[in-house]
Amino acid sequence: MEIKQPKELDRSALYQALFVPNNLIFKEEKMLSKSYVPENIIGRNTQLEQIAANLAPITRHGDPINMYIWGGSGVGKTITIRHVLSILDYGLHENSDNTHVDFVRIDSTSINSDVLVCREILAHLTATIPQTGFTFAQYLQFIWSEIDRIASNYDYYALVIFFDEIDKFKDPNNVLYQLSRAMENKRIKSSNSTIGIITASNKKDFLNSLDDKVQSSAGFVYLQFPDYTEQELYEILIDRIEAFQPGAITEAEIRYCAKRVAEGFHGDARRAIDTIHVAGKIASDQRYKRITTQHINNAEQEITNTATMEMMTKFSKHDQYLITAIYLCNRIIKAEKLNSSPNTGTVLNVYQEVCKIVNESPTSEGHISRRISDLDDKQLIHAQKIKGYGNTRFITLSSDTELAIDLIYKYPLKIQIEASISDIESIVMSTIKRNRKPFAGTSKFI
Ligand SMILES: Nc1ncnc2c1ncn2[C@@H]1O[C@H](COP(=O)(O)OP(=O)(O)O)[C@@H](O)[C@H]1O
Ligand SMILES: [Mg+2]
Repeated sequence: MEIKQPKELDRSALYQALFVPNNLIFKEEKMLSKSYVPENIIGRNTQLEQIAANLAPITRHGDPINMYIWGGSGVGKTITIRHVLSILDYGLHENSDNTHVDFVRIDSTSINSDVLVCREILAHLTATIPQTGFTFAQYLQFIWSEIDRIASNYDYYALVIFFDEIDKFKDPNNVLYQLSRAMENKRIKSSNSTIGIITASNKKDFLNSLDDKVQSSAGFVYLQFPDYTEQELYEILIDRIEAFQPGAITEAEIRYCAKRVAEGFHGDARRAIDTIHVAGKIASDQRYKRITTQHINNAEQEITNTATMEMMTKFSKHDQYLITAIYLCNRIIKAEKLNSSPNTGTVLNVYQEVCKIVNESPTSEGHISRRISDLDDKQLIHAQKIKGYGNTRFITLSSDTELAIDLIYKYPLKIQIEASISDIESIVMSTIKRNRKPFAGTSKFI
Protein backbone atom coordinates (compact mmCIF):
# COMPACT_ATOMS: atom_id res chain seq x y z
CA MET A 1 0.00 0.00 0.00
CA GLU A 2 1.28 3.42 -0.84
CA ILE A 3 1.97 5.68 2.12
CA LYS A 4 0.56 9.12 1.62
CA GLN A 5 3.07 11.91 2.20
CA PRO A 6 1.52 14.70 4.23
CA LYS A 7 1.36 18.08 2.55
CA GLU A 8 3.74 20.81 3.78
CA LEU A 9 0.90 22.49 5.62
CA ASP A 10 -0.05 19.27 7.43
CA ARG A 11 3.53 18.75 8.51
CA SER A 12 3.75 22.22 9.91
CA ALA A 13 0.45 21.77 11.76
CA LEU A 14 1.62 18.40 13.06
CA TYR A 15 4.86 19.90 14.29
CA GLN A 16 2.91 22.64 16.05
CA ALA A 17 0.58 20.10 17.61
CA LEU A 18 3.20 17.55 18.60
CA PHE A 19 6.28 19.49 19.58
CA VAL A 20 5.45 23.07 20.44
CA PRO A 21 3.39 22.30 23.57
CA ASN A 22 6.48 20.51 24.91
CA ASN A 23 8.57 23.62 24.56
CA LEU A 24 6.71 25.98 26.84
CA ILE A 25 9.33 25.78 29.56
CA PHE A 26 12.75 24.92 28.14
CA LYS A 27 14.75 26.68 25.46
CA GLU A 28 18.34 25.37 25.96
CA GLU A 29 17.80 22.41 28.26
CA LYS A 30 21.39 21.29 27.74
CA MET A 31 22.49 24.15 30.01
CA LEU A 32 21.06 22.17 32.93
CA SER A 33 22.83 18.91 32.11
CA LYS A 34 25.89 17.45 33.82
CA SER A 35 28.07 17.91 30.76
CA TYR A 36 27.45 21.66 30.47
CA VAL A 37 30.52 23.76 31.24
CA PRO A 38 29.54 27.29 32.33
CA GLU A 39 31.60 30.30 31.24
CA ASN A 40 31.67 31.73 34.75
CA ILE A 41 32.70 30.10 37.99
CA ILE A 42 30.73 31.86 40.69
CA GLY A 43 31.90 32.40 44.26
CA ARG A 44 35.16 30.52 43.93
CA ASN A 45 37.69 33.32 43.43
CA THR A 46 39.68 32.44 46.54
CA GLN A 47 39.88 28.78 45.54
CA LEU A 48 40.77 29.66 41.93
CA GLU A 49 43.61 31.82 43.25
CA GLN A 50 44.84 29.17 45.69
CA ILE A 51 44.87 26.43 43.06
CA ALA A 52 46.55 28.74 40.54
CA ALA A 53 49.22 29.67 43.11
CA ASN A 54 49.99 25.99 43.64
CA LEU A 55 50.26 25.37 39.90
CA ALA A 56 52.10 28.60 39.13
CA PRO A 57 55.59 27.06 39.59
CA ILE A 58 54.94 25.32 36.24
CA THR A 59 54.98 28.71 34.50
CA ARG A 60 58.47 29.37 35.91
CA HIS A 61 59.67 25.85 35.10
CA GLY A 62 59.36 24.50 38.62
CA ASP A 63 57.42 21.77 40.42
CA PRO A 64 53.76 22.41 41.20
CA ILE A 65 52.50 21.85 44.74
CA ASN A 66 50.31 18.77 45.15
CA MET A 67 46.85 19.41 46.57
CA TYR A 68 44.05 17.70 48.41
CA ILE A 69 40.73 19.42 47.86
CA TRP A 70 37.95 18.74 50.26
CA GLY A 71 34.34 19.92 50.19
CA GLY A 72 30.78 18.53 50.12
CA SER A 73 29.30 17.19 46.91
CA GLY A 74 28.33 19.82 44.35
CA VAL A 75 30.47 22.62 45.78
CA GLY A 76 32.38 23.02 42.53
CA LYS A 77 35.56 20.98 43.13
CA THR A 78 35.64 19.32 39.72
CA ILE A 79 34.53 22.32 37.72
CA THR A 80 36.99 24.66 39.45
CA ILE A 81 40.01 22.41 38.86
CA ARG A 82 39.04 21.95 35.22
CA HIS A 83 38.63 25.70 34.87
CA VAL A 84 42.05 26.58 36.32
CA LEU A 85 43.77 24.01 34.13
CA SER A 86 42.04 25.26 31.00
CA ILE A 87 43.08 28.85 31.82
CA LEU A 88 46.66 27.70 32.39
CA ASP A 89 46.66 25.87 29.07
CA TYR A 90 45.16 28.86 27.30
CA GLY A 91 47.62 31.31 28.85
CA LEU A 92 50.67 29.22 28.03
CA HIS A 93 49.63 28.95 24.39
CA GLU A 94 48.62 32.57 24.08
CA ASN A 95 51.94 33.73 25.44
CA SER A 96 53.66 31.35 23.02
CA ASP A 97 55.52 30.02 26.00
CA ASN A 98 57.18 26.79 24.98
CA THR A 99 55.79 25.09 28.11
CA HIS A 100 53.21 22.36 27.68
CA VAL A 101 50.78 20.97 30.27
CA ASP A 102 48.86 17.72 29.93
CA PHE A 103 45.91 17.41 32.29
CA VAL A 104 44.46 13.97 32.98
CA ARG A 105 41.38 13.61 35.14
CA ILE A 106 40.95 10.22 36.78
CA ASP A 107 37.34 9.56 37.69
CA SER A 108 38.00 7.27 40.64
CA THR A 109 34.41 6.04 40.69
CA SER A 110 35.28 3.91 37.64
CA ILE A 111 39.08 4.13 37.28
CA ASN A 112 40.05 2.78 40.66
CA SER A 113 43.11 0.57 40.37
CA ASP A 114 46.83 1.18 39.68
CA VAL A 115 46.75 -0.42 36.26
CA LEU A 116 43.56 1.39 35.19
CA VAL A 117 45.11 4.73 36.16
CA CYS A 118 48.22 4.01 34.12
CA ARG A 119 46.15 3.01 31.12
CA GLU A 120 44.09 6.19 31.39
CA ILE A 121 47.22 8.35 31.54
CA LEU A 122 48.80 6.52 28.61
CA ALA A 123 45.62 6.78 26.56
CA HIS A 124 45.67 10.52 27.10
CA LEU A 125 49.37 10.98 26.34
CA THR A 126 49.49 8.78 23.27
CA ALA A 127 45.93 9.38 22.01
CA THR A 128 45.63 5.63 21.43
CA ILE A 129 44.17 2.79 23.45
CA PRO A 130 47.06 1.14 25.34
CA GLN A 131 47.61 -2.57 24.95
CA THR A 132 46.31 -4.75 27.73
CA GLY A 133 48.14 -7.38 29.73
CA PHE A 134 51.08 -5.46 31.23
CA THR A 135 51.93 -5.17 34.90
CA PHE A 136 51.73 -1.95 36.90
CA ALA A 137 55.53 -1.61 36.80
CA GLN A 138 55.59 -2.04 33.04
CA TYR A 139 52.85 0.51 32.50
CA LEU A 140 54.73 2.97 34.72
CA GLN A 141 57.80 2.47 32.57
CA PHE A 142 55.75 3.35 29.48
CA ILE A 143 54.53 6.52 31.19
CA TRP A 144 58.06 7.64 32.12
CA SER A 145 59.22 7.11 28.52
CA GLU A 146 56.21 8.98 27.20
CA ILE A 147 56.98 11.92 29.49
CA ASP A 148 60.55 12.00 28.20
CA ARG A 149 59.35 11.85 24.60
CA ILE A 150 56.88 14.73 25.05
CA ALA A 151 59.33 16.81 27.11
CA SER A 152 61.86 16.66 24.29
CA ASN A 153 59.53 18.84 22.19
CA TYR A 154 59.23 21.66 24.72
CA ASP A 155 61.29 23.91 26.95
CA TYR A 156 59.27 22.59 29.87
CA TYR A 157 56.61 19.91 30.31
CA ALA A 158 54.16 19.24 33.17
CA LEU A 159 51.83 16.30 33.56
CA VAL A 160 49.03 17.17 35.98
CA ILE A 161 46.98 14.21 37.19
CA PHE A 162 43.70 14.88 38.94
CA PHE A 163 42.33 12.03 41.06
CA ASP A 164 38.70 13.08 41.38
CA GLU A 165 36.62 11.45 44.16
CA ILE A 166 39.79 9.71 45.30
CA ASP A 167 38.05 8.09 48.29
CA LYS A 168 36.42 5.71 45.78
CA PHE A 169 39.85 4.40 44.78
CA LYS A 170 40.47 0.93 46.24
CA ASP A 171 44.01 1.56 47.48
CA PRO A 172 45.64 4.64 46.00
CA ASN A 173 48.83 4.46 48.12
CA ASN A 174 50.97 2.71 45.57
CA VAL A 175 50.10 4.79 42.54
CA LEU A 176 50.32 8.07 44.48
CA TYR A 177 53.70 7.06 45.83
CA GLN A 178 55.10 6.11 42.42
CA LEU A 179 53.83 9.26 40.72
CA SER A 180 54.98 11.59 43.48
CA ARG A 181 58.44 9.98 43.72
CA ALA A 182 59.08 9.59 39.99
CA MET A 183 61.29 12.68 39.76
CA GLU A 184 63.30 12.08 42.90
CA ASN A 185 63.78 8.43 42.06
CA LYS A 186 65.08 9.47 38.64
CA ARG A 187 62.55 7.33 36.86
CA ILE A 188 62.20 10.10 34.32
CA LYS A 189 65.35 11.04 32.43
CA SER A 190 64.34 14.47 31.17
CA SER A 191 65.20 17.29 33.55
CA ASN A 192 62.70 19.69 31.97
CA SER A 193 59.58 17.84 33.12
CA THR A 194 57.46 17.55 36.23
CA ILE A 195 54.40 15.76 37.59
CA GLY A 196 51.68 17.44 39.66
CA ILE A 197 48.99 15.59 41.58
CA ILE A 198 45.62 17.00 42.54
CA THR A 199 43.22 14.91 44.60
CA ALA A 200 39.64 15.73 45.60
CA SER A 201 36.87 14.14 47.61
CA ASN A 202 34.10 14.88 50.07
CA LYS A 203 35.77 12.94 52.88
CA LYS A 204 37.38 15.37 55.27
CA ASP A 205 39.71 12.83 56.84
CA PHE A 206 40.81 11.13 53.67
CA LEU A 207 44.46 12.25 53.89
CA ASN A 208 44.81 10.53 57.25
CA SER A 209 43.94 7.21 55.64
CA LEU A 210 47.00 7.37 53.37
CA ASP A 211 50.33 5.77 54.31
CA ASP A 212 52.77 8.11 56.00
CA LYS A 213 55.35 7.66 53.27
CA VAL A 214 52.81 8.70 50.64
CA GLN A 215 51.85 11.76 52.63
CA SER A 216 55.43 12.79 53.08
CA SER A 217 56.45 12.21 49.46
CA ALA A 218 53.35 13.84 47.92
CA GLY A 219 53.13 16.63 50.53
CA PHE A 220 49.52 17.41 49.75
CA VAL A 221 48.42 20.91 50.61
CA TYR A 222 44.90 20.93 52.01
CA LEU A 223 42.31 23.22 50.40
CA GLN A 224 38.75 23.49 51.58
CA PHE A 225 35.78 24.34 49.41
CA PRO A 226 33.02 25.78 51.59
CA ASP A 227 29.33 25.18 50.94
CA TYR A 228 27.70 27.71 48.62
CA THR A 229 25.60 30.40 50.22
CA GLU A 230 22.06 31.13 49.14
CA GLN A 231 23.26 34.17 47.18
CA GLU A 232 25.96 32.16 45.37
CA LEU A 233 23.47 29.44 44.45
CA TYR A 234 21.11 32.13 43.20
CA GLU A 235 23.86 33.51 40.94
CA ILE A 236 24.79 30.03 39.68
CA LEU A 237 21.16 29.40 38.76
CA ILE A 238 20.57 32.84 37.23
CA ASP A 239 23.62 32.24 35.07
CA ARG A 240 21.67 29.38 33.44
CA ILE A 241 18.40 31.25 32.97
CA GLU A 242 18.82 30.97 29.20
CA ALA A 243 17.96 27.29 29.61
CA PHE A 244 14.36 28.46 29.98
CA GLN A 245 11.90 30.20 27.71
CA PRO A 246 11.53 33.89 28.56
CA GLY A 247 9.24 34.21 31.57
CA ALA A 248 9.09 30.44 32.24
CA ILE A 249 10.88 30.96 35.54
CA THR A 250 11.14 34.20 37.48
CA GLU A 251 13.74 35.48 39.89
CA ALA A 252 11.42 34.76 42.79
CA GLU A 253 11.32 31.01 42.03
CA ILE A 254 15.07 30.91 41.48
CA ARG A 255 15.62 32.63 44.81
CA TYR A 256 13.23 30.19 46.47
CA CYS A 257 15.13 27.22 45.02
CA ALA A 258 18.50 28.69 46.11
CA LYS A 259 17.18 29.21 49.63
CA ARG A 260 15.82 25.65 49.90
CA VAL A 261 19.09 24.11 48.73
CA ALA A 262 21.27 26.40 50.88
CA GLU A 263 19.26 25.53 53.98
CA GLY A 264 18.53 21.86 53.39
CA PHE A 265 21.34 20.52 51.20
CA HIS A 266 24.58 22.21 52.33
CA GLY A 267 24.70 24.56 49.33
CA ASP A 268 25.06 21.79 46.75
CA ALA A 269 25.06 23.48 43.31
CA ARG A 270 24.37 20.20 41.52
CA ARG A 271 21.28 19.70 43.64
CA ALA A 272 20.14 23.28 42.93
CA ILE A 273 20.53 22.85 39.17
CA ASP A 274 18.81 19.45 39.27
CA THR A 275 15.95 20.95 41.25
CA ILE A 276 15.10 23.68 38.73
CA HIS A 277 15.58 21.16 35.93
CA VAL A 278 13.15 18.63 37.43
CA ALA A 279 10.75 21.46 38.39
CA GLY A 280 10.82 22.50 34.73
CA LYS A 281 10.03 18.96 33.60
CA ILE A 282 7.13 18.70 36.03
CA ALA A 283 5.74 22.05 34.87
CA SER A 284 6.22 20.99 31.26
CA ASP A 285 4.40 17.66 31.80
CA GLN A 286 1.53 19.58 33.34
CA ARG A 287 1.53 21.93 30.32
CA TYR A 288 2.25 24.93 32.51
CA LYS A 289 3.89 28.00 30.98
CA ARG A 290 5.61 28.91 34.22
CA ILE A 291 7.46 27.10 36.98
CA THR A 292 5.84 27.70 40.37
CA THR A 293 7.20 27.23 43.90
CA GLN A 294 4.98 24.16 44.12
CA HIS A 295 6.82 22.65 41.14
CA ILE A 296 10.07 23.33 42.98
CA ASN A 297 8.77 21.62 46.13
CA ASN A 298 7.64 18.63 44.06
CA ALA A 299 11.01 18.49 42.32
CA GLU A 300 12.84 18.56 45.64
CA GLN A 301 10.76 15.63 46.89
CA GLU A 302 11.21 13.70 43.66
CA ILE A 303 15.00 14.10 43.75
CA THR A 304 15.14 13.05 47.41
CA ASN A 305 12.96 10.02 46.76
CA THR A 306 15.03 8.93 43.78
CA ALA A 307 18.32 9.32 45.64
CA THR A 308 17.08 7.52 48.76
CA MET A 309 15.48 4.78 46.69
CA GLU A 310 18.65 4.30 44.69
CA MET A 311 20.71 3.93 47.86
CA MET A 312 18.20 1.69 49.59
CA THR A 313 17.88 -0.74 46.74
CA LYS A 314 21.67 -1.09 46.67
CA PHE A 315 21.90 -2.06 50.34
CA SER A 316 23.42 -5.37 51.31
CA LYS A 317 21.17 -7.85 53.10
CA HIS A 318 22.71 -6.98 56.47
CA ASP A 319 22.32 -3.24 55.94
CA GLN A 320 18.66 -3.97 55.31
CA TYR A 321 18.41 -5.89 58.58
CA LEU A 322 20.19 -3.08 60.39
CA ILE A 323 17.86 -0.41 58.97
CA THR A 324 14.92 -2.66 59.82
CA ALA A 325 16.21 -2.93 63.39
CA ILE A 326 16.55 0.86 63.70
CA TYR A 327 13.09 1.31 62.26
CA LEU A 328 11.55 -1.23 64.67
CA CYS A 329 13.31 0.17 67.76
CA ASN A 330 12.08 3.68 67.04
CA ARG A 331 8.58 2.46 66.18
CA ILE A 332 8.28 0.52 69.42
CA ILE A 333 9.67 3.34 71.55
CA LYS A 334 7.28 5.78 69.91
CA ALA A 335 4.31 3.46 70.44
CA GLU A 336 5.24 3.23 74.12
CA LYS A 337 5.41 7.05 74.22
CA LEU A 338 8.88 6.90 75.74
CA ASN A 339 10.07 10.05 74.01
CA SER A 340 13.65 8.85 73.54
CA SER A 341 15.84 7.17 70.93
CA PRO A 342 17.41 3.69 70.93
CA ASN A 343 21.13 3.50 71.52
CA THR A 344 23.70 1.36 69.71
CA GLY A 345 23.26 -1.52 72.17
CA THR A 346 19.49 -1.70 71.71
CA VAL A 347 19.82 -1.52 67.92
CA LEU A 348 22.46 -4.24 67.96
CA ASN A 349 20.27 -6.56 70.06
CA VAL A 350 17.31 -6.06 67.76
CA TYR A 351 19.51 -6.52 64.67
CA GLN A 352 20.68 -9.87 66.08
CA GLU A 353 17.09 -10.85 66.77
CA VAL A 354 16.08 -9.91 63.20
CA CYS A 355 18.89 -12.14 61.91
CA LYS A 356 17.64 -14.95 64.13
CA ILE A 357 14.09 -14.57 62.81
CA VAL A 358 15.22 -14.75 59.18
CA ASN A 359 17.65 -17.56 59.97
CA GLU A 360 20.87 -15.76 59.09
CA SER A 361 24.01 -15.42 61.20
CA PRO A 362 24.59 -11.81 62.26
CA THR A 363 27.80 -10.00 61.29
CA SER A 364 30.21 -8.81 64.01
CA GLU A 365 29.50 -5.93 66.38
CA GLY A 366 32.49 -4.05 64.95
CA HIS A 367 31.09 -4.36 61.46
CA ILE A 368 27.67 -3.12 62.54
CA SER A 369 29.25 -0.20 64.34
CA ARG A 370 31.12 0.78 61.15
CA ARG A 371 27.96 0.39 59.09
CA ILE A 372 26.16 2.73 61.49
CA SER A 373 28.87 5.36 60.95
CA ASP A 374 28.73 4.95 57.18
CA LEU A 375 24.93 5.16 56.99
CA ASP A 376 25.16 8.23 59.21
CA ASP A 377 27.70 9.81 56.81
CA LYS A 378 25.26 9.19 53.98
CA GLN A 379 22.52 10.82 56.07
CA LEU A 380 20.30 7.76 55.79
CA ILE A 381 20.25 7.50 59.57
CA HIS A 382 21.24 9.86 62.37
CA ALA A 383 23.65 8.50 64.98
CA GLN A 384 24.20 11.17 67.60
CA LYS A 385 26.33 11.24 70.69
CA ILE A 386 24.81 13.00 73.63
CA LYS A 387 26.69 14.92 76.24
CA GLY A 388 27.02 12.86 79.41
CA TYR A 389 26.51 9.53 77.64
CA GLY A 390 30.11 8.85 76.54
CA ASN A 391 30.54 7.14 73.19
CA THR A 392 27.04 5.73 73.04
CA ARG A 393 25.20 6.82 69.94
CA PHE A 394 21.45 7.33 69.77
CA ILE A 395 20.09 6.21 66.45
CA THR A 396 17.11 7.28 64.36
CA LEU A 397 16.21 6.97 60.69
CA SER A 398 16.46 10.12 58.58
CA SER A 399 13.07 11.36 57.46
CA ASP A 400 13.85 10.35 53.85
CA THR A 401 14.67 6.78 54.87
CA GLU A 402 11.57 6.63 57.01
CA LEU A 403 9.45 7.68 54.03
CA ALA A 404 11.02 4.97 51.88
CA ILE A 405 11.07 2.22 54.53
CA ASP A 406 8.55 0.16 52.55
CA LEU A 407 11.30 -0.55 50.03
CA ILE A 408 13.10 -2.61 52.67
CA TYR A 409 10.49 -3.53 55.22
CA LYS A 410 8.27 -5.54 52.89
CA TYR A 411 7.17 -9.08 52.11
CA PRO A 412 8.56 -11.60 53.09
CA LEU A 413 10.73 -9.90 55.75
CA LYS A 414 7.81 -7.91 57.11
CA ILE A 415 5.60 -10.96 57.58
CA GLN A 416 8.34 -12.90 59.37
CA ILE A 417 9.16 -10.00 61.70
CA GLU A 418 5.59 -9.05 62.51
CA ALA A 419 4.93 -12.66 63.48
CA SER A 420 7.62 -12.34 66.17
CA ILE A 421 7.15 -8.68 67.03
CA SER A 422 6.50 -9.37 70.72
CA ASP A 423 10.03 -10.83 71.08
CA ILE A 424 11.47 -7.66 69.60
CA GLU A 425 9.27 -5.50 71.82
CA SER A 426 10.53 -7.20 74.92
CA ILE A 427 14.18 -6.82 73.80
CA VAL A 428 13.65 -3.11 73.22
CA MET A 429 11.78 -2.58 76.50
CA SER A 430 14.29 -4.49 78.59
CA THR A 431 17.34 -2.66 77.18
CA ILE A 432 15.54 0.68 77.50
CA LYS A 433 14.90 0.01 81.16
CA ARG A 434 18.53 -0.92 81.71
CA ASN A 435 19.88 2.24 80.09
CA ARG A 436 17.90 5.21 81.32
CA LYS A 437 17.46 7.27 78.17
CA PRO A 438 17.74 11.00 77.72
CA PHE A 439 14.70 12.77 76.40
CA ALA A 440 14.94 13.45 72.69
CA GLY A 441 15.00 17.09 71.72
CA THR A 442 15.98 18.45 75.11
CA SER A 443 19.53 17.14 75.26
CA LYS A 444 22.70 18.85 74.17
CA PHE A 445 24.38 17.05 71.30
CA ILE A 446 28.14 16.96 71.11
N1 LIG B 1 30.78 28.13 40.98
C1 LIG B 1 30.00 27.56 40.07
N2 LIG B 1 29.53 28.24 39.03
C2 LIG B 1 28.75 27.65 38.11
N3 LIG B 1 28.37 26.37 38.15
C3 LIG B 1 28.80 25.62 39.18
C4 LIG B 1 29.64 26.17 40.18
N4 LIG B 1 29.93 25.22 41.08
C5 LIG B 1 29.32 24.11 40.66
N5 LIG B 1 28.63 24.34 39.52
C6 LIG B 1 27.83 23.35 38.81
O1 LIG B 1 27.31 22.45 39.76
C7 LIG B 1 27.52 21.09 39.38
C8 LIG B 1 28.40 20.40 40.42
O2 LIG B 1 29.71 20.95 40.41
P1 LIG B 1 31.01 20.02 40.58
O3 LIG B 1 32.20 20.79 40.24
O4 LIG B 1 30.80 18.76 39.81
O5 LIG B 1 30.94 19.74 42.15
P2 LIG B 1 31.82 18.73 43.03
O6 LIG B 1 32.94 18.26 42.17
O7 LIG B 1 32.28 19.55 44.19
O8 LIG B 1 30.89 17.64 43.45
C9 LIG B 1 28.11 21.14 38.00
O9 LIG B 1 27.08 21.00 37.06
C10 LIG B 1 28.73 22.50 37.88
O10 LIG B 1 28.69 22.96 36.55
MG1 LIG C 1 33.31 16.32 41.54
